[in-house]
Amino acid sequence: MRRVIYPGSFDPITNGHLDVINRAATLFDEVVVSVAFNEQKQGLFSVDERMALLREVSPKLPNIRIAQFEGLLMDFARRQEATAVVRGLRAVSDFEFEFQMALMNRKLEPQIETIFLMPAEKYTYLSSRIVKEIARLGGDVSAFVPVSVAAALREKFATPKG
Ligand code: PNS
Repeated sequence: MRRVIYPGSFDPITNGHLDVINRAATLFDEVVVSVAFNEQKQGLFSVDERMALLREVSPKLPNIRIAQFEGLLMDFARRQEATAVVRGLRAVSDFEFEFQMALMNRKLEPQIETIFLMPAEKYTYLSSRIVKEIARLGGDVSAFVPVSVAAALREKFATPKG
């Protein structure tokens, strides 16, 4: 059983994340899409909201599971009996942080490999951070996120009436 963890903030999930999930699902027996809970990093969406969006928009494949974790990724990956962790790599700018994280994670758990998948090039410029900024300023994000995520963003940034 080859199980891979796809960890992230997913605040919120974008079409780029979905691209990586689909690619990972063809390579592994099971993909555990795992939302990291970080007390020090307040997201726009709560972990429960992110999980709900992930459940709603993730491909309905038998080998994709949605989970959440707190603490060290490698501890979680070990508990899940995962063989690998997958991360999306969009551009050279991602590389430095990802390289550091992958090597540190290898120190913590040498048995679990980190692998990188490149999403389709049309997603190279896409990030949750930029999507949130566009949505906050009233821009159209429908090309970058699933319909229900766009709706959830609109709701978050709706100016209260009255
Ligand atoms: O989507 P993100 O924000 O780029 O994901 C980063 C994430 C959640 C994968 C990373 O911060 C992480 O693994 N956090 C868990 C805590 C941990 O293990 N830290 C040590 C990493 S070397």
